[in-house]
Amino acid sequence: MTPINENIFPVFHEILGRAEKETLLHQRSKVIWLTGLSGAGKTTLAKYLEEALHNKGFLTQVLDGDNIRSGINNNLGFSDSDRYENIRRIAEISKLFMDCGVITINCFISPTEDIRDLARRIIGQDDFIEVYVNAPLNVCEARDVKGLYTRARRGEIKEFTGITSPFETPENIDLEIRTDLLSIEESVEQILEVILPRIDYH
Ligand code: ADX
Repeated sequence: MTPINENIFPVFHEILGRAEKETLLHQRSKVIWLTGLSGAGKTTLAKYLEEALHNKGFLTQVLDGDNIRSGINNNLGFSDSDRYENIRRIAEISKLFMDCGVITINCFISPTEDIRDLARRIIGQDDFIEVYVNAPLNVCEARDVKGLYTRARRGEIKEFTGITSPFETPENIDLEIRTDLLSIEESVEQILEVILPRIDYH
């Protein structure tokens, strides 16, 4: 047997595969990747989307920035390289869920094209559904659900996305949701229209 490097011997090909898990669950696993500013509504949408999918009989898992950063990624901050590593690990975790047949709904700012490309590369183009959850910065700032924009403007939080750290407009999206213009119900409807044909087992 040829190892990948000196002492590592992956056994991916020996364990029960994704197809068997998808058959068991009667669904196709995908990663629904919600990108957007803090306060744009990613987590809220994910919550309602998960509920809608659950009610239709799909097995899902929401992965969210604040949750992941308080657990497996609690050693990472908000520098460019830490954000990159944050997304790299999340993409790998999502892939594990996918191999288990589960649909993940990911809520991460994922602020740059580089970072989103990395996630797409790790997960694979066919399984990656990118949704731009878009509300203008002034709307997110006015909402200021967590009070972070106020603190960032005061200079108390450095490298804050949209204020002192960039957010690049996503170019390779499957869908854009303007949360300042649509209701939550309308937003969920639009996402379902795109994803249902791709997760339905047939
Ligand atoms: S990402 O840029 O690496 O994708 P991620 O989605 O995991 O970010 O985490 C974003 C969350 O961390 C925000 O919703 C916010 O609550 C919190 N946060 C704390 N500091 C910052 C910061 N400097 N920039 C952006 N979000 C921050």
